[in-house]
Amino acid sequence: MAQLWGGRFTKKTADEVYDFNASIGFDKRLLSEDIGGSRAHVRMLAKQGIIKEDERDAILGGLDGIEEDVKNGKLAITKEYEDVHSFVEANLIDRIGDAGKKLHTGRSRNDQVALDMRLYVRNRTEDTRALIGELLATLQKQMEENIDTIMPGFTHLQKAQPITLAHHLGAYFEMFRRDAERLSDIRERMNYCPLGSGALAGTTYPLDREFTAKELGFKAPTRNSMDGVSDRDYLIEYLSALSIIMMHLSRFSEEIIIWNSNEYRFVNIDDAYSTGSSIMPQKKNPDIAELVRGKTGRVYGALISLLTTMKGLPLAYNKDMQEDKELPFDAMDTADDCLHLFNGMLSTMTYNKKTMEASCAGGFANATDLADYLVGKGIPFRDAHSIVGSVVIACEKDQIAIDELSLAQLREFSPLIDEDVFTAIDLWNCVDKRLTDGAPGRAAMEKEIAAGKAFLEEF
Ligand code: ARG
Repeated sequence: MAQLWGGRFTKKTADEVYDFNASIGFDKRLLSEDIGGSRAHVRMLAKQGIIKEDERDAILGGLDGIEEDVKNGKLAITKEYEDVHSFVEANLIDRIGDAGKKLHTGRSRNDQVALDMRLYVRNRTEDTRALIGELLATLQKQMEENIDTIMPGFTHLQKAQPITLAHHLGAYFEMFRRDAERLSDIRERMNYCPLGSGALAGTTYPLDREFTAKELGFKAPTRNSMDGVSDRDYLIEYLSALSIIMMHLSRFSEEIIIWNSNEYRFVNIDDAYSTGSSIMPQKKNPDIAELVRGKTGRVYGALISLLTTMKGLPLAYNKDMQEDKELPFDAMDTADDCLHLFNGMLSTMTYNKKTMEASCAGGFANATDLADYLVGKGIPFRDAHSIVGSVVIACEKDQIAIDELSLAQLREFSPLIDEDVFTAIDLWNCVDKRLTDGAPGRAAMEKEIAAGKAFLEEF
């Protein structure tokens, strides 16, 4: 047991208490952030004359050695240490002796762990954002390729109006674009350095907090030392952003599962991204989409867990806050894996364009357009709506589409209907007439795609 705080105690910690209390099993992933924070701290201590320059150099050399030895497997991070901070400090003292005992001058594990987590989460927001960038690039490419791929748009999972695949994918492009922007906002808001907050009340040493903040790439030091050690808002924001990303991935997964079903057959998931059944030889299951949908609950769980952990905590640090690691780490890994695998599945998935178009043709998706046509002939919209309702009933009885009726049959519903009706309700025309900004018509869609492209060029 390598503990930093033995002095006040006359008895050894009970083994099970030590194990229950220790965080080394999961905070070891903060090693490089912990060492990076210590480097900045000792440089500042020497600059302020709090330690000597040769002591600084010895500490920096020792920290380099520890980092290197862990990397090349010579030094293992074992359960003998309570946490990653104790691991580094104990090893430093072993290596360089007394100078190592000065590393922790003017610092507490409270501001140290607050710093480590912030550095770690700041990097993770960037990783997640980059993964979203890859997904957006896939969507952008598929949108460009499918500007003319007609499909039914749905409401209530009932065929509603004709759209294009580009338009459908464009909706997801917008969701993930906002997710990327959300991550940038969070990174910006969290980018303040808690180091120098001490245990909670700062310190009596003349620390230069601006210096360490700049060294570590922060905009400035945090303003209040109690908040500096107690704030986990940034992590809650990141988990919220991950939850929203998972919600978007899960919705998209659900659609892919529906589109991949035997009834729809809109898409083919690549063999590399599907799995089979041990008993039913015909099966090719959309397991990746299902797992992404399933893992969403896990990410939400981490968010709710941390919100609950934090809600009753008096200022400043409490050990409860150690619970800000295991589930959040799992959530970050899960969300990033899901983004990566989902993108792999999406980019290799193929679309059955003919099936999509046939589904649109067979589903009265052009009924609104027929009503609009009648409005053009001078019939009030409410009456036109009712006339088309009767047309649909007649078509359903014979199991045919509206454009399969002859002109004579159509005129039985309204004598104002002419030969030009067939152009008006032609699916291609129905889509292309939708030209308002944000609509699926070619001209509107080209604008949307150009905006997406510009966004990705700046990404
Ligand atoms: N393992 C602790 C955590 O993750 C480090 C901070 C410990 N500070 C303390 N005063 N016990 O929160």
